[in-house]
Amino acid sequence: MKIAIAADHGGYELKEVIKKYFTDIEWLDLGTDSSDSVDYPDFAHKMAKTLHNNEASLGILICGTGVGISIAANRHKGIRAALIYSSEVARLAKQHNNANVLVFGGRTMNAGDVIGYIKIFLHEDFEDGRHQRRLDKIEQWEEC
Ligand code: RB5
Repeated sequence: MKIAIAADHGGYELKEVIKKYFTDIEWLDLGTDSSDSVDYPDFAHKMAKTLHNNEASLGILICGTGVGISIAANRHKGIRAALIYSSEVARLAKQHNNANVLVFGGRTMNAGDVIGYIKIFLHEDFEDGRHQRRLDKIEQWEEC
């Protein structure tokens, strides 16, 4: 499985921990490459372009809180970026929302918890049915 991952300086350290932990995943690292200050929208936009080009099937984005980078990512058509803050949210983000980008806060979350959330998300399936109808309604709005 190929997963794209990107972070600003607030998420850089967590990005490196995640990559090191999941050795069975093929990572497409979109940066940033140090703790030097950068702008999180640049990485959200890079992620959207990568997923639109089918260069990866899932994305992980990290900034300090996860909020700014979620806002930026969700401006893009077809991007369903979910800020994951509990095991329950990790499960439902797949089952109900079929999220294609997982978002974490490098300054607000514990690396061990985040690794657990990623494992949960990856083991769940989208439930379809009424949930697909709701996703369709999000997509219809994108055309307005
Ligand atoms: C950067 O200082 C910080 O604002 C950013 O990482 C993020 O938390 C924004 O939402």
